Amino acid sequence: MTGIRTIGVVGGGQLARMMAPAAAALGLNLKLLAEAPGSSAAQVIADVTVGDYADAGVLGAFASGCDAITFDHEHVPTDLLRDLKASGVLVRPGPDALEHAQDKAVMRARLTALGLPCPRWRVVDSVADLVAFGRETGWPVIAKLSRGGYDGKGVFKIESDADANVPFAALEGPLGPTERESATSASGPRPVILAEEFIDFTRELSVIVARGADGRCLAYPVTETVQADGICRETTTPAPALSAERADALQALGIAAASELGVVGLLAVELMELADGSVVVNELAMRPHNTGHWAIDGARTSQFENHLRAVAGLPLGPTDATAAVAVMSNILGGSRDDLVGGLADVLAADPALRVQLYGKAVKPGRKVGHVTALGDDLATVAGRARAASEALEGRRTNLEEDR
Ligand SMILES: Nc1ncnc2c1ncn2[C@@H]1O[C@H](COP(=O)(O)OP(=O)(O)O)[C@@H](O)[C@H]1O
Ligand SMILES: [Mg+2]
Repeated sequence: MTGIRTIGVVGGGQLARMMAPAAAALGLNLKLLAEAPGSSAAQVIADVTVGDYADAGVLGAFASGCDAITFDHEHVPTDLLRDLKASGVLVRPGPDALEHAQDKAVMRARLTALGLPCPRWRVVDSVADLVAFGRETGWPVIAKLSRGGYDGKGVFKIESDADANVPFAALEGPLGPTERESATSASGPRPVILAEEFIDFTRELSVIVARGADGRCLAYPVTETVQADGICRETTTPAPALSAERADALQALGIAAASELGVVGLLAVELMELADGSVVVNELAMRPHNTGHWAIDGARTSQFENHLRAVAGLPLGPTDATAAVAVMSNILGGSRDDLVGGLADVLAADPALRVQLYGKAVKPGRKVGHVTALGDDLATVAGRARAASEALEGRRTNLEEDR
């Protein structure tokens, strides 16, 4: 028995939006704390509070109407969540776990202590420190703001001594234009600069684990993910050319991390694979993840449903794939403003295609939706997903001629 009926979601982006159908199916009430009226999730959730999640009063009042709270993003200041928890609010995932998804320096220290594979890394306090790190490990190096980044914002490839000041300049200002409704807030701990060895990966992988309130874990099949300019473009599940042994090992890695960190809800572990087949962890997220969107249509239980099941204290649903291959392609803002208007052609060409549009205004490069194609043959399925996302982005018009 669980007494959780009403779940509050902090953040009004597409991840909160895609929780709504799962909540409806389970009879759970969703309340939303959104940054702005009309945001992606506010369009589909009836009970919306508009306010600043970094304001203790706003957050406390919101949480008091909920049996548990969870998140669309990781930017809620940890100290506010600790206060909420101390006042008896059920926060899932809890602040002690969530901090490892909020702060990349905290994450690196903990994963290293747990013996999980990481690139060489160091928190650097000055340009001179970063230069010293680059000389030790060899250029280029990756420098990241420890907190507040998303979609590659806050990640810098530093080629030599000459640009070692770049991440420190970024520390001074906000992260830049906020495209996502749930973009970073100015409050909370200041970020530091995390320097990482540059990993010449052959590909990026992701393993998503659902961990229930009772500690039971289920891992989704491993996904291969293609990022461009720090933004996820496409995913393929299961990751091609990954032996059953290696897939099992990566799922075990994800389950170990979720258990050690005490996550309740989803944990996404972003991985970089090297030429010899070994991996290092890139970063962690504790919420539904872009690399798990395929599971809405391609797994027996979607990641959104399993996240809510965990938050509500319900048993998890099976994570197996229902098709031999699932390819998800993100729709990034392009030359077409009217995405719904593009569906007639796209669905005429491919009626079995699965579509999620996020209700967001189209801006260049912004994530505004995704499509998922399912089937037996990787090349065919990938071709279908790409053709549809390119058409919806306005990059392709001849859908029919293609098939
Ligand atoms: N140490 C690294 N070496 C090489 N590439 C990296 C490294 N760290 C990150 N990247 C690349 O940058 C992308 C974004 O970094 P990440 O830390 O995941 O930032 P974000 O929080 O914006 O997703 C990664 O998906 C990967 O492609
Ligand atoms: Mg990332």
